[in-house]
Amino acid sequence: MAVRLLTDNVHWVGAIDWDRQLFDELIPLPDGTSYNAYLVCGKEKSALIDLVDPTKEEDLRSHLDALKQTRLDYIVVNHAEQDHSGALPAFLRIYPEARVVTNEKCKAMLITHLHVPEDKFLVVKEGSTVELGGKTLEFIATPWVHWPETMSTYLREDRILFSCDFFGSHLAQSDLFMGDAHRTLEAAKRYYAEIMMPFRSSIVKNLDKLTAFPVEMIAPSHGVIYKHPDFIMDAYRDWVSDRVENKAVILFVSMHGSTRKMAFHLSDALIRQQVEVRMFNLTHADTGEIAKELVDAATVVLATPQVLGGPHPKAVAAAYLLNALRPKTRFLSIIGSYGWGGKMVEYLKSLITHIKPEILDPITLKGLPDEKDLARFDALADQIKKGHQTLNL
Ligand code: FEO
Repeated sequence: MAVRLLTDNVHWVGAIDWDRQLFDELIPLPDGTSYNAYLVCGKEKSALIDLVDPTKEEDLRSHLDALKQTRLDYIVVNHAEQDHSGALPAFLRIYPEARVVTNEKCKAMLITHLHVPEDKFLVVKEGSTVELGGKTLEFIATPWVHWPETMSTYLREDRILFSCDFFGSHLAQSDLFMGDAHRTLEAAKRYYAEIMMPFRSSIVKNLDKLTAFPVEMIAPSHGVIYKHPDFIMDAYRDWVSDRVENKAVILFVSMHGSTRKMAFHLSDALIRQQVEVRMFNLTHADTGEIAKELVDAATVVLATPQVLGGPHPKAVAAAYLLNALRPKTRFLSIIGSYGWGGKMVEYLKSLITHIKPEILDPITLKGLPDEKDLARFDALADQIKKGHQTLNL
């Protein structure tokens, strides 16, 4: 893999993970990912900003070798999660003179998770700077982009913001910079949804804070680099705003076709009402795609059969995810089929406590719905449409 120049004496030295399929053993990566690390060299000193996943240590090492970097004065760790910090112990062995520059919280995590020796650290605070000689690094606390310790590093002279996970995307591509706008935006939205959506209020504060900095380039630690920061910052402002779209996400699972019939009838009725629909079959749906659609959907419908006295486990997982991600959902409905009784509606409702959508009257039916039953889903679609109209959608 090739070292790339961002600007005068600032190089990308990271790694592209073309075929990684899963992150955190949870999140599918349809487009792979990358771990962006950057080498900033001043007239006197050098700093590596973030590292790579431990599986890609060799890539980072070969890049630094290619640049003949026999010495490193600083390794800036913006975030303690191992996809950026996991290679730190190895690189402290290669560069024993390097000081690890990070904040107090991140230091504690690096000691806990990676056993980095206490005497390796240079602890910085909000607004602290490190001089490299004609290149000044300033540190900005940007917590909860999804961990509490994360900071960004601002290179004053070149006006580059190294934002770590913030503004990142799981996107493996050969071009370092943003190419296709739609592809970039979809990947960035999905990434925001997967890890940052639960911390929306913190993201708002971080975005506000960054307006004080004249940023000409945003260089995250995953995915593409932005030469036009407004592109991604405006997208974030929209995602964290209260704005929702005239859209319903239907999350369904069906064992013998009855719940499927309800979900599809509702979908058709919503389309007739000119509500955009996103349908996901929970038996094989991509969790990241669901998360992405939840970012701005006004309505979510959970559709499940009753099994063993409660909802299908796939619907339980979906309700758990919905609750954990805390989207802006304004209306929620639960529908489904049962054979002889149970408490699936109550159980699903009990799982959704972090968000407060208006719960529309659930529809549960015994067995296969007939024409009269299906008319109830036309009424539900009407109710959803009217709800959206109260939001001026
Ligand atoms: Fe890319 Fe939170 O690590």
